[in-house]
Amino acid sequence: MSQASIQARWDALLDQLRLIRETEPVHYDEQTHLWNLYRYEDVVYALSHPAIFSSDTNSIVPQQPEINFMSKGDITQMDPPRHRQFRSLISQAFTPRVVEQMAPRITALTNQLLDAVTVRSEMDIIRDIAAPLPIIVIAELLGVPSEDRERFKRWSNTLIASASSIDPTDEKMIASMIPTMREMHEYLQNYVHDRRQQPREDLISRLTTAQIEGQMLDDDEIVGFASLLLLAGNITTTILIGNALLCLTDHPEAIATLRADMSLLPSAIEEVLRFRSPFTLTARVTASDITLHGVTIPARQLVNVWLLSANHDERQFPDPEHFDIRREPNRHQAFGHGIHFCIGAPLARLEGKIVLQALLERFPTLKRVPNIELEPHESSFVTGVRSLPVTW
Ligand code: HEM
Repeated sequence: MSQASIQARWDALLDQLRLIRETEPVHYDEQTHLWNLYRYEDVVYALSHPAIFSSDTNSIVPQQPEINFMSKGDITQMDPPRHRQFRSLISQAFTPRVVEQMAPRITALTNQLLDAVTVRSEMDIIRDIAAPLPIIVIAELLGVPSEDRERFKRWSNTLIASASSIDPTDEKMIASMIPTMREMHEYLQNYVHDRRQQPREDLISRLTTAQIEGQMLDDDEIVGFASLLLLAGNITTTILIGNALLCLTDHPEAIATLRADMSLLPSAIEEVLRFRSPFTLTARVTASDITLHGVTIPARQLVNVWLLSANHDERQFPDPEHFDIRREPNRHQAFGHGIHFCIGAPLARLEGKIVLQALLERFPTLKRVPNIELEPHESSFVTGVRSLPVTW
């Protein structure tokens, strides 16, 4: 797909979202039997009311007994009070203070990865830096060998590619994920067994001794949570870094402003998260009937909550299609909202900032390789490209 056509597709998506926000903000899709929420206020409402919009989408998705064990430690699917208990066990590992201590290691890894490409005159932002960095960081945090990262990348890519439809009741889609999920489960289970015998200074070891109301977590819960981190913690950050380069190279005036004042880096990253939100949407299931804008969504319905659309809602963001690295306020929903707000947000922001700063400082003439085919991720859950060649 050429740059022109990927741009045309992006513009068409934004047009489509703008129209539907205006005409049918609470939309039922006859084909997929899914409800959709598109406006900022409705997205925030849904994410703020877990008693009405439950995260337990497994409760209405056809069950695959072979992979039930995989969803045990998946906190994104939990409602209170289980969610609060589980989240409190792991949130200490991701506070901004703890994450800030990882900065020197992330900087060293970034420089190491960039040293390997400086001898060339071209690199692929995704392959050479955006994909390996978050995987190494999360592997080190969990305590699994970062040398296995090709394997982790393959798992993420396979699962993202399998989840190409926005219909989580699609049995074929779920079945296509099973072999990869099994392989990932087996791999992580070995580490859980190992750390129960010989604990180390890593997250898996800490989870093997953690307790919820006096009860230890079982292997499946630890494996499920570790898999979520391996997946959620890497592909989204990879996409964020790629999207940052896409946004900046699409807006040369923004890149010049940033080069002149690097203190704008954090707000530039927030604008990338708003403008090209890595997670396009998330899902909820209605626990009871709920009426929004005069439309009643019955109980036990799957609802797509469109984060990307909320982040382009003109009711919340003046001139939303303008990429403005000084935008203030910028209360985007790219990391979600409420009790499930992304645990890894401080880490993703830090990795994004360190990589962007290094790229801008080390490659003063960085630009996109022209006339190249850019390939978007096919999945409707994520907004990003699979490769992004640049030169200097
Ligand atoms: C939750 C986005 C990076 C771990 C979420 C949610 C979003 C999100 C939208 C909420 C989902 C929902 O409410 O249904 C992102 C984006 C990232 C990113 C855009 C990168 C730019 C990370 C990283 C980690 C991580 C680096 C871990 C190291 C999690 C976890 C949850 C979560 C564990 C579940 C929290 C809960 O259910 O309480 N993320 N994420 N994420 N994220 Fe992230």
